[in-house]
Amino acid sequence: MIVLQLSDFHVRGDGSVSFGVVDTRRCLEEAVAHLKKLEAAPDALVLTGDLADDGDENAYRILRESLSPLAWPIYAIPGNHDRRDPMRDILAEWCPADRDVAPHLCYTVEDGPVRLVMVDTTNPGSHDGHCPPAVMRWLDKTLAKRPRTPTLLFMHHPPFATGLPVMDLPLENADALAAILRKNPPARLCCGHIHRPILSQWMGVSVVTAPAVSMQMELDLGEKGGDAFRLETPGYLLHHWKRGVLNTHVCQIATRTSFAGPYSFSRQETGDRRRETDENRSVVQRSFSGGEAAAYFSVSCFLFPVS
Ligand SMILES: [Fe+2]
Ligand SMILES: [Fe+2]
Repeated sequence: MIVLQLSDFHVRGDGSVSFGVVDTRRCLEEAVAHLKKLEAAPDALVLTGDLADDGDENAYRILRESLSPLAWPIYAIPGNHDRRDPMRDILAEWCPADRDVAPHLCYTVEDGPVRLVMVDTTNPGSHDGHCPPAVMRWLDKTLAKRPRTPTLLFMHHPPFATGLPVMDLPLENADALAAILRKNPPARLCCGHIHRPILSQWMGVSVVTAPAVSMQMELDLGEKGGDAFRLETPGYLLHHWKRGVLNTHVCQIATRTSFAGPYSFSRQETGDRRRETDENRSVVQRSFSGGEAAAYFSVSCFLFPVS
C-alpha cells in the first residue's frame, strides 16, 4: 500500500503571492505535473493541512480542479490557515468527516491494509495546535475499535518540539494525546505545518513531518528559528507498507529551485525583496535552461553556514 502525503500548499484564491513572495499556485501546478509522471499509482493521497493560505473559497476550488484529474482517492484535513466550512462544502468527498465529532473534520479510512486516521487539530483564529477533549474521546474510541491494526495517524500540528523555537508552541492537551497513543500506538504519526521533513520519536511513537509543496522552512536552530522560509526544493512523503514493514520516503518535486531567502513568515515581503526573488529565480532558470528536471537535494543544506 502506498500513501502519498502532500502538505502545506498555501494556495491563494485571488492570484496573489503567499507571504509576499511565493507563487503557490505555480507550486501546485508543478506538484501536479510531477505526480502525473509517477509510474505507480498510489492507493491514496493525503493532504495534511494549510491547503489554502487564508481559507479563501476559491483556493479550495483551484485545489479541487488541479488534483481531481489524478483520479486517486484523496483525503484532507485542515491546517491553521484553512477554514473548515469551505473545506466541508467544496472538498466534501475529500473530507468524509465523522458527524460524532463535528465541527472537527476527523474520520477514518478503513478499506486498505493500513488504516488511515485523520485528526483535526485546528482551532479557528489560532496558529497553534489543539486537541480538545471531544476530539481526544473520538480518537481514543476510534483506535480502540480495531486494536493492533496498522495505522497511519495524520494531523497538521506535530506534538513534539522541533527545535525551531517560533514553531514550537505547545500542542494543547498533548498529555491526553500521549495517553491515548500509548494504549494503541500508530505505526507512524504523520504531520504537516513545519514545511520541512523531520523524523522524531515522541512518547514512544514514531513521528514525521512533511516537507511543503510550497516554501520550505529555513533550518535555523537559533533563538529566532522557525520564522523564515526559503524557496528550496518542494517535496512530499511516500508511506510504503509491505509485508508488515512501513517505510516513509522523503520525495522531492522536480522544479527549478532558486533557494532564495530567507524570507520572514511574520513580515510581508514587498518591493525590493520580491524583485530580488524574481531575479534569483530567473538566474536559476537560465542556468537550468536545458534541463527539465533540475532539482537540488536540500535537506540540511543550511544547518551550518559556510564561512
Ligand atoms: Fe503551512
Ligand atoms: Fe500550519
